[in-house]
Amino acid sequence: MKISIIGTGYVGLVTGVTLAEIGHEVICIDVDAQKIEKMKQAASPIHEPGLSEMMARNIAVKRLAFTTSHQSGFEDVDVIYIAVGTPENEDGSANLMYVEQAAKDIAENVVDDVTVVMKSTVPVGTNHKVKEQICNAVKGRVKIEIVSNPEFLKEGSAIEDTFLGDRIVIGSDSMEGAMVVAAINEPFGVPIYHTDIKSAEMIKYASNAFLATKISFINEISNICELVGANIENVASGMGMDNRIGSQFLKAGIGYGGSCFPKDTKALIQIAGNVNYEFDLLKGVVNVNKKQQLLLIEKLNQCTDKIEGKRIAVLGLAFKPNTDDMREATSILIVEELIRQRAEVVAFDPIATENAKSILHPLVVYAASVEEAVEGSDAALIVTEWEEIRGINLSVFQKMRRPLIIDGRNCFSLDSMKEYPIEYHSIGRPAVT
Ligand code: UGA
Repeated sequence: MKISIIGTGYVGLVTGVTLAEIGHEVICIDVDAQKIEKMKQAASPIHEPGLSEMMARNIAVKRLAFTTSHQSGFEDVDVIYIAVGTPENEDGSANLMYVEQAAKDIAENVVDDVTVVMKSTVPVGTNHKVKEQICNAVKGRVKIEIVSNPEFLKEGSAIEDTFLGDRIVIGSDSMEGAMVVAAINEPFGVPIYHTDIKSAEMIKYASNAFLATKISFINEISNICELVGANIENVASGMGMDNRIGSQFLKAGIGYGGSCFPKDTKALIQIAGNVNYEFDLLKGVVNVNKKQQLLLIEKLNQCTDKIEGKRIAVLGLAFKPNTDDMREATSILIVEELIRQRAEVVAFDPIATENAKSILHPLVVYAASVEEAVEGSDAALIVTEWEEIRGINLSVFQKMRRPLIIDGRNCFSLDSMKEYPIEYHSIGRPAVT
């Protein structure tokens, strides 16, 4: 099948590359000419394990191409995917500016009947509006089908998630559209769930909101564990053995970040609000996350007389390991607060440093290793559980002026910590002093 993808952000690029890998002829369109030129040379603009290799392989056999032109990008295509961003408006609702522009570009440039597939995360009802917008503009010149096909990839394991996903959701109001998208995806070998368009749109938001709820729930339990002397890891393991609960997304920490959970939880609150429904539970989830993100600062304040003038190592900046993505990373809030309290901040991240430099305060100093960051510091805050941090020899922390670790991701076992003269505070577990 010949497929065109509008938008080469995270979702668009991974979708395009993996669809080419299973044999489709794919052309990715983006307005950013510089980015398109780089991608033509198989240089991936995002850090995603396995993506560059897959890009190079499919470009070489001419199954994958890139362009800035909608006109040539839509030539002879059977299907057009919309995979543009839906950023957050100030009130938390989803901004549909790029989706509307994509619909306009489709209407102005398609010459044949086409199935439009919505990959972007859009509020319930958007697919119908987009179809109406395109149909009104093409005035019957061509036939348009629209299919909702939300994505469930995790950054850092996007390729794996595509080929070994739990389900592919196809929301369509016509058998024809559903069958086209099912046929495209069939080679992935992932179970397909067919439903109507609005339910598909809701599945995406509800799934992310549910996962965010699990995280905020376990984070609250971890805070209570600390107060009653229980250990959150034992609690989560015992809970997760119940299949009805499941063991995933029960890792207590310093809250969720990234480009999806923060945005999608707030958007769902808005979607509910638009039909006069107060989503109280989800509001709680968002508030708990806000509180949890500053927990390390609270713990640091409890361990230190004052933060001012102290050299603080911040270990890990990306919103999670295996990505250079800094969007809504908890590190942003932590560093901001440390600087506000006049600390000297030395940060380390294996790959997100370049992205961090354009976001974090200019006073932040960047170290090339964990060792360099912690040397001579008065405390080390662990923000992201990179392997480079989890696997470090603990003796490195003895080079600190005061060996104090406040670990927001429970990277080290309490037993291993007891072997070193290090004060260790983590999440939902007893302190080692
Ligand atoms: C998330 C979802 O997991 C994907 O299914 C979805 O497709 C994607 O959003 C999206 O909507 O595009 P992602 O944001 O890449 O994927 O990352 P996750 O691995 O889900 O982690 C999100 C945040 O939750 C991270 O900050 C992570 O540290 C935190 N988290 C995750 C926890 O604090 N505890 C956990 O147990 C799991």
